[in-house]
Amino acid sequence: MEFTTVINERRSAKDFEPNVPISTEQLEVMVEEAQLAPTAFNLQHAKYIIVRDETVKQELKEVSLMQEKITNASAVIIITGDAQAYENVAEIYAHTLTGDVLTMKEEVIRDFYVPRGESFAREEAIRNGSLVAMQFMLVAKSYGWDTCPMIGFDKIEVRRILDIPANEEIVMMITLGKAVPMDEYSRGYRKPAQEVIRYK
Ligand SMILES: Cc1cc2nc3c(=O)[nH]c(=O)nc-3n(C[C@H](O)[C@H](O)[C@H](O)COP(=O)(O)O)c2cc1C
Repeated sequence: MEFTTVINERRSAKDFEPNVPISTEQLEVMVEEAQLAPTAFNLQHAKYIIVRDETVKQELKEVSLMQEKITNASAVIIITGDAQAYENVAEIYAHTLTGDVLTMKEEVIRDFYVPRGESFAREEAIRNGSLVAMQFMLVAKSYGWDTCPMIGFDKIEVRRILDIPANEEIVMMITLGKAVPMDEYSRGYRKPAQEVIRYK
C-alpha cells in the first residue's frame, strides 16, 4: 500500500467486526516494524501487552467506559514505556559495542537521564512510546488492519488487570481489528497548515 494511501485511509475505528482472529505471526511482524520507529538513544522504551483472551478483554472493557470495540477487537494492545530504559543500555549496545566504548556509552546515557529526574524519565517513556504507537497503527493499516488509539480507560485498573510494573508508564491502548464500515463517518476537521505553523 502506498504511504499516502496508508495515512489517508487510517481512521480511528468506531467499532470492529466481532470474531475476526489475528495470528501471533501477523502481530509479531507488525511489532517488529513498529520497533523501527526512532527512540532517544535507541533505548526502545516501548513494551506491548497484547490481549486476545475474551475474559481479559471483557475486564478491560469494564474499566474503559464500556467501549464495545474492546471486546469486538481482534486484539487489544497496551503500549507501555519503560521509564527506566536508560538503565538497560548494555542490553541494546552490547550488540554493537564492547569494552570501554560500551562502558562510556552507558555513562553518557545515565549522565543524560539521572540529573533530569523521574518526571523527565516518565515523559520520555510516553514520548518514545507514542512514536512507536503511531508507527504501529500505520503498519497495521498497511497490512489491512484497522485500529483505534484509546485513552478512555481507568489507568489504575488497567495496570492492576494486566499486572503492569511501576516502572512502565501506560502510553496508550490500541484496539485492532477489521473496522465496521465507516462510510457514514467523515474524517474530523483538521486545522490547515497555516493555522498550526509559527515560522520564526
Ligand atoms: C491519545 C488518543 C486517545 C484517544 N482515545 C479514544 C478513546 O478512548 N475512544 C475512542 O473511540 N477514540 C479515541 N481516540 C480517537 C480519536 O477520537 C480520533 O483519533 C480523532 O477523532 C480523529 O479521528 P481519525 O483518527 O479517524 O482521523 C483517541 C485518539 C488519541 C490520539
